[in-house]
This record gives sequence, C-alpha cells and structure tokens, in this order.
Amino acid sequence: MRHQEGGGRVEGRTFHLETIGCQMNEQDSLRIARVLCEAGCRRATSRNDADILIVNTCCIRQKAEEKVYSLLGRLRAWKGDKADRVLAVGGCVAQNEGKRLQERMPHVDIVFGPHHVSRIHRYLQRYQETGDRVTEVSLVVDSVEDLECPGVSSAPGFRAYTTIMEGCNNFCSYCIVPYVRGRERSRPVASLRREVLSLLSQGVREITLLGQNVNAYRAPDRPEFGFASLLRELGSIPGLDRIRFTTSHPKDLSSELIGCFGELDALCEHVHLPVQSGSDRILTRMNRQYTVQGYRDKIDALRARCPDLAITTDVIVGFPGEKESDFQQTLDLVDAVQFDGIFSFKFSPREGTRAAKWKDSVPEEVKKAELDVLQGRQRKTGFRKNQALEGHILEVLVEGASREGGQWMGRCRTNKVVNFCGEGDLSGRLVWVRIDRGCQNSLTGSLFQTISTGGRAVGDERVP
Ligand code: 5AD
Ligand code: SF4
Repeated sequence: MRHQEGGGRVEGRTFHLETIGCQMNEQDSLRIARVLCEAGCRRATSRNDADILIVNTCCIRQKAEEKVYSLLGRLRAWKGDKADRVLAVGGCVAQNEGKRLQERMPHVDIVFGPHHVSRIHRYLQRYQETGDRVTEVSLVVDSVEDLECPGVSSAPGFRAYTTIMEGCNNFCSYCIVPYVRGRERSRPVASLRREVLSLLSQGVREITLLGQNVNAYRAPDRPEFGFASLLRELGSIPGLDRIRFTTSHPKDLSSELIGCFGELDALCEHVHLPVQSGSDRILTRMNRQYTVQGYRDKIDALRARCPDLAITTDVIVGFPGEKESDFQQTLDLVDAVQFDGIFSFKFSPREGTRAAKWKDSVPEEVKKAELDVLQGRQRKTGFRKNQALEGHILEVLVEGASREGGQWMGRCRTNKVVNFCGEGDLSGRLVWVRIDRGCQNSLTGSLFQTISTGGRAVGDERVP
C-alpha cells in the first residue's frame, strides 16, 4: 500500500483543512489529512491555531469558484505578517487556475491539483526550505492506491464514504470535471474490500461508494468485473448494514445494476440519477448520450424492480440555446417522474468546456425564474411524498442527537432525514421508527423497536 512518497518531513507543524465542494472533495481532504499526519503534522483545533492552512476547492460551478476566491481574499489577514504560516490551495480550482490563482492571490504559497494529494508533504517541505512558491497542477496520474483512505485521522462515525473510481470520460459539454479530474480510473477490488473491512472495524455501518461516474466502475485487473459485481462483492460483507452509491450516469445504469435492487439486502432503496434536462434537443447539446424516453425507461425498470425506490436528480436550467419549450419539457419530465429530490442549478459557463464557447443565451432573470418554478414544484412533490409515509414504519440508522431537543436524528433507507423520540442511547443503532408526520424536508416519528442484529437479519420482512 502506498499512501505517500518518501521525504518531505514536516514534523511538529499543525494544520487545518477547509473544504469547499462535494463528497469527493471531502474524501480528498481526508487523504490530505492522512498524508500530513503520516508526515508528522498534527491537526490544529482551528484556523487560528494552525501553521499550515489547506483550502480544498471545487470549481464545478462559477458560484463555488467565487466562494473560493472570496475565502482566499479573507485569508490575507490570516497570513498577515506571520512569515512561518503556509497557505496551500488544493482541489479543482487549484487544478484549473494554476499559476493564475497565485497571480490573483499572491499570499497563496502552494497550489496543488487533485492528482498531487499524496505529495503535499513534499511541497510543504520544498516551500519551507526554499521559500519559493509551489505550483503543481499537471494531470500526472497518481497510483489508484493513492485513493485508498482507510482509518483516517478523524473518526468516520457510523456512515462513511469510499472512493471507488476517479475522473470522467463523458465530457458533457457544460462540465469541467473531465478537465480537472482526468480520465476514469478504478481501484482494485481487493483494496476496496480491505478499506470497507477497516471502516467496519471502526464502527461504520453504512458505506457510500463514491465516484464522478460511479457506475462506470471496472476492476482494473478484471475488465468483466463491473459496478454491479462490485456492489454484490462489497454489499455482502458481513456487518455492512447499508450500502449506497453516487453519482450514476443514466447511460451506464445497466439492467444488471437495476437487478441489484431488491436482490442485495444491504443496498438502500435510493438512486441519484442526474437527468439534467427533459428536452432531447438540449440533452444532445449537453452530450448526455441518452434520450428522455431512454431515461424514463430506466426509471420504469427501476421502479418495477423496486417500487419503494427513492429517485433524486440534478437539473440545469438556462443551458445555451434553451428555449421556453425546452424548459417546459423539463417540467413535464419532472411531473411525470415525481422525483424525491432535485438539485437544480443555473447554467454557468466553465472556461475550457464546449458549452462555454456558445452564447450564454438565457438571461439571468429567466434562469432565476425557471429555477424558482422548478423548485416550487419540487417542494410540493417532496412534501406530498413525505406525507405519504405517515403511518409507515421505517428502518433508521441513528446518527446522533437531533437539533430538535430531546430527539434522535437518523436517515431511513431512502436517505430521508428522520427525527424521532426514543429512550436510551440510540447513537449508531438501527431502529424501526413509526412515522407520525411528513414535513417539508424531513420526517418525524417515534421509536417503534430497536433492531439488535442489524436490519438485514430480521428475516425477509421490511417491517417487523
Ligand atoms: N453549470 C451548471 N450546473 C452544472 N453542473 C455541472 N456543471 C455545471 C455547469 N457548468 C451540475 C450538474 C451536475 C452537478 C454536480 O452540477 O447538474 O450533475
Ligand atoms: Fe461532468 Fe458529465 Fe462526467 Fe458527470 S458525467 S462528471 S456531468 S462530464
């Protein structure tokens, strides 16, 4: 196993990490923490106690990038005149901006892309020794073993993420991911198994398999071993109560994968399947490689296999060249599918992508109005779906005390937040909860029964 390359000791220094972005970024931050701890650094309790501050960044949309620049601007004061403090910027903005970032923000000492995480301690040492700023953003590919991240320095809790693949080959015309994360590469099965076992030994009960295009997983040493095979392999590890995955591309949602729902006890009844648009014309311009009908057929097959499945999606409004009629088709699709949740975004041009060369033709106020319409509809659907669960008894993995005083908080298998009352310490337990109320963004209920042997061992029944 290789987590870091030799050299670059930075013993005794303290570091603090700030992460902006998705779960992949959170995972990268865990890897950064691991590399630094192995190099002899310690975690600081806050930004102000730290010698080294690492900002791990996301650039998927303009807004995320602006957030990074605004934070970096404020961090000028953190560096102040303290010459021994080091400010490093990692992640997708670092990758995309490279030297430009340091030109705009001269107080940034180190810029390193996602492929350079395993060498961060070396860059720190080089900077300490020479005082020369470091920029490392080539798309050299780390060993896939560098993605391994078991037993990181912070406790993973009862739910954890495992990165099974990195990168993307799809080149959707709006998306910057393939440019900053590089091509798809999958981790070997044996290493993933080891990581899951290690997480389970630390008390984890639910694992989410992560990848930009998770269902394009192919075991590097066994090309016939795809994502469905991996789900079967990992999902049957004793002690793993729940397994989830994100994010899937509709074109890679195979019938074998659909068949895993209802077959694998641990596989939770939720799939996040970004559709992006309900117009075939726009889907073609987006280079999504499926049609609206193809998408709907897959939804039908999923629901036929697993009627309780929760389906969430991503939608972009205001794509270049999008007309009112295209947006109407998106609304029609949303009405027809009845998603459990929609993450909706206004199109934002990302430099270097194909769509950024096209006229950003939909005015900002139209994008905003469309987003409001879409989100308003979804609020109604989400509320109605939550209300429909009233009276049901759902399996909940308890994460801890709820923000509502005296209550517990957890998630049911379809990933909805459940707040409920119940006696005793229920943290980390699997319990049955009777749902009393479906609210806008969560469910509330009361403890029905704790599950002593794990939800899957209660027999074939979903409900006791
Ligand atoms: N503009 C707006 N939304 C985008 N996404 C990705 N790139 C862009 C962009 N340039 C959205 C997509 C994707 C989600 C993670 O972010 O909906 O599924
Ligand atoms: Fe981006 Fe498309 Fe790849 Fe998703 S599938 S990461 S949207 S290029």
